[in-house]
Amino acid sequence: MAATPHPIVLGIESSCDETAVALVRAPDTVLAQSLASQADIHSRFGGVVPEVASRRHVEVLDPLVTATLDQAGLELKDIDAVAVTAGPGLIGAVLVGVCYAKALAWALKVPFVGVHHLEAHVAAASLGEAGADDAAPFVALVVSGGHTSLYRVEDGVRFTQLGATVDDAAGEALDKGAKMLGLGYPGGPELERLAAGGDRAAVAFPRAFLAAGLDFSFSGLKTSLRTHLAGADPASPADLAASYQEAVMDVLSTKAVRAAEREGVRRIAVVGGVAANGRLRALLTERATAAGYAVRVPPPALCTDNAVMVAVAGARMLAQGAAADLSLDARARAPLTGRGLS
Ligand code: KG4
Ligand code: ZN
Repeated sequence: MAATPHPIVLGIESSCDETAVALVRAPDTVLAQSLASQADIHSRFGGVVPEVASRRHVEVLDPLVTATLDQAGLELKDIDAVAVTAGPGLIGAVLVGVCYAKALAWALKVPFVGVHHLEAHVAAASLGEAGADDAAPFVALVVSGGHTSLYRVEDGVRFTQLGATVDDAAGEALDKGAKMLGLGYPGGPELERLAAGGDRAAVAFPRAFLAAGLDFSFSGLKTSLRTHLAGADPASPADLAASYQEAVMDVLSTKAVRAAEREGVRRIAVVGGVAANGRLRALLTERATAAGYAVRVPPPALCTDNAVMVAVAGARMLAQGAAADLSLDARARAPLTGRGLS
């Protein structure tokens, strides 16, 4: 890499249905970012269609890189390194970003790194706080469409899994619940909008606290909504949305605080698409603050998939001497090691 202590890192995210590009000056100064969401395309199908997602990434990624460089007033030659999500994700979608990143890094003769998608989400929680209490251990609740897990994180990079969902991810439960209520895709934000006018206590949906452990389960909740809707006198859509959302957020915030207590840490980070939810942010902040824990949640636009988080996580890996070579593979699944992917 160029000798500069603050290299300009191009971040690329294409693991699901958002194509995103960001330029970040290490460690975490955002110079420009762009995002092309495919939500409109996939909403017709009620969920992400992998092949459609991959094809769309191919069409929009290169123009998005050009637009992001223009936005920052930079040129290709100004890029010092490339960071790309290499997994986990939809394999064809991840592959588009990985192939592009490899080709670009090779052409520019700059280093590149393969970033783990969940490490990138966690990195978004410490954006703008580099150096503050970075070394202190914390608990991370990762809640997205594909993942719901709790980790203990040390030195910002060493991850120990404390618990995970045994069935649906929280975002998946929200998306499926929203679909049952006739809402569009992605369901989480739609459900949140409808819930704003509803009564959170209208329907006592079940909470799976799984005998005080740190695992999660949301399939019973989904079944309960289906049964309720099939009943003689279902509650209003707004009340159902508010009560259903509350059941998910109650479990998530209870377990995040429980994990912090158990691990003896001072702070809780909440990341991933579901962390954009206002009710989760409020409930967790209220409970964690009352119990003496600090909460870090990225701004909503950095909770859902974006490339800033990829560039920031990549910049940290590069600072630690990591670099991938042309053998870097896209991965549908990948363990979270804190060392990215190679
Ligand atoms: O992190 P993300 O953008 O993509 C994955 O890596 O999965 O998360 C997407 C998930 C979807 O399930 C979506 O419904 C949910 O995050 N989501 C929300 C909100 N915004 C996105 N859930 C609840 N409230 C929101 N405001
Ligand atoms: Zn994600």
